[in-house]
Amino acid sequence: MEARRRRWGAVLCTAAAVFLAMAVAACAAAPGAAQWTEVPAPRSANGNTWAVIVSTSRYWLNYRHAANALAVYRAVRRAGVPDSRIVLMLAEDFSRNPRNVFPGSVFVDEALQVDVARGKAEVDYEGDDVSAASLARVLTGRHAARVPRSRTLPTTRESDVLLYVTGHGGENFMKFQDKDMMSGEDLAEVVAEMRSLGRYRELTIVVDTCKASTFCRHVSSPNVTCVSSSLRGQNSYSKHANAEVGNSLVDEMTFLIQEQLAERRFGKLVGRRAARAMYQRLRARMKSSTPHYRET
Ligand SMILES: *[C@@H]1O[C@H](CO)[C@@H](O)[C@H](O)[C@H]1NC(C)=O
Repeated sequence: MEARRRRWGAVLCTAAAVFLAMAVAACAAAPGAAQWTEVPAPRSANGNTWAVIVSTSRYWLNYRHAANALAVYRAVRRAGVPDSRIVLMLAEDFSRNPRNVFPGSVFVDEALQVDVARGKAEVDYEGDDVSAASLARVLTGRHAARVPRSRTLPTTRESDVLLYVTGHGGENFMKFQDKDMMSGEDLAEVVAEMRSLGRYRELTIVVDTCKASTFCRHVSSPNVTCVSSSLRGQNSYSKHANAEVGNSLVDEMTFLIQEQLAERRFGKLVGRRAARAMYQRLRARMKSSTPHYRET
């Protein structure tokens, strides 16, 4: 008990330290900047943070994967990232599924208080548009044809990028719907391309799936952190279910992460410090699988 309390204490201290460091940096940057440039200085730690949020599953049984993605979307918005800097990819929007007894809603908590559904989020890719190839195009910016800006990630070497992916995965791959997959090597190649094209400064990848750590293990490009929900050989599990909805609502790791991000004090979303803080909290709280952290 005592040891447990100490561990929690350490986690809290880390969160506070992150917050304090950010507060100091923001104070130092604020005053002069606005006078010298017409472009307003970034107002928050996430002023040049972008996010690509992906749920790869269809079918009612996989309600929780869309709920995961929508909950992360909501938390990222709350952390100060506008919709214009988020590409949201949902293989299926369960708020409109005929089996949904709460049409228009997607809940992530047992009490059905937290509705993260579509009306609150702009979905940029849906249905067949969500594939391993379309995710690779978004990340690398190599679009086949002209696409609306909202479906692109126009980042630079100064941008911080969060990539969140949830769905069914396995050893060294992430499944896209039932026909398609992205392997760990594919991911590593996409990240290397992003790097050489100058599309990120820091990249944080968050993966909630089975054997999730294996999806990131080939990534070797610099400044990449990866937080994943399970080790090689492990499954990843849902956290809440609800009988009225008739489904599992959310996965354990994502529930904890979105809760942590939604706390306004989280500060910067992307980078080593942020990813380590996420991982520390997961290590203390996850019960059904073992989270994993990797950085390059
Ligand atoms: C890696 O990230 C740090 C911290 O944001 C940044 O200062 C540095 O320039 C980045 N390195 C590269 C090679 O982009």
